Amino acid sequence: MEEAAAAELASGARDALLARLEEQATAENVPIIERQSAVLISLLTRLVRPDLIVELGTATGYSAIWLLRGWPQARLITFEVDESRAAQARRNLAEAGLAERTEVRVENAVGGLARLPSESAAVVVNDVLNGLRDELRVEECFRQVMHVLKPGGLLLADNELGAGGVQGGETREVRCVRRWNQLVAAEGSLSGSIVPVGDGLSMAVRHAGAAP
Ligand SMILES: C[S@@+](CC[C@H](N)C(=O)[O-])C[C@H]1O[C@@H](n2cnc3c(N)ncnc32)[C@H](O)[C@@H]1O
Repeated sequence: MEEAAAAELASGARDALLARLEEQATAENVPIIERQSAVLISLLTRLVRPDLIVELGTATGYSAIWLLRGWPQARLITFEVDESRAAQARRNLAEAGLAERTEVRVENAVGGLARLPSESAAVVVNDVLNGLRDELRVEECFRQVMHVLKPGGLLLADNELGAGGVQGGETREVRCVRRWNQLVAAEGSLSGSIVPVGDGLSMAVRHAGAAP
């Protein structure tokens, strides 16, 4: 049953719950990931087959549902500072039948990551780059992400293009996205790229052995 659902979702089809969350996001200005990026992160999760996914920025649980449907054996820990959004996410994940595989933590993701076991997550999704205050927070976020990311694991970050992060400009969001990209590029244990899908998705793999 879950296999069939995953195959259907990988082609971009979505059920009534996901369609409703997309409509709600538009109506209420909830900044969820674009659908084509959601399809891609779901497919990537299916390739990596993670035990544990860690997500920074839950909102209403839209991307969390795609991630978990990507790989039926995965558990997800997801961080959200907004209590009301976290409560909605819990309800939506329960409606999707995914509550038992998910832990929605109401706290700042950067502090929360520090308390997770070292190298415990095979997929980490950073969807708070637009919400971080400055480049110093981005640097701390990156340090904590590297603390939880397993060797061989996949690191994803959304909003690479919308904020103009790879094109220039000087808003806070641009500086944060640019700093993130610099950190990923400078980290010798990561190999990555930026894919112009949706709002732009950065993806990088942490080498399991010696860097190529
Ligand atoms: C882009 S939205 C997440 C969208 C979600 N991943 C999706 O695609 O369905 C970012 C969310 O992160 C939350 N947020 C911002 N900074 C945060 C932080 N430092 N720690 C945890 N949550 C944060 C915001 O309240 C917002 O709901």
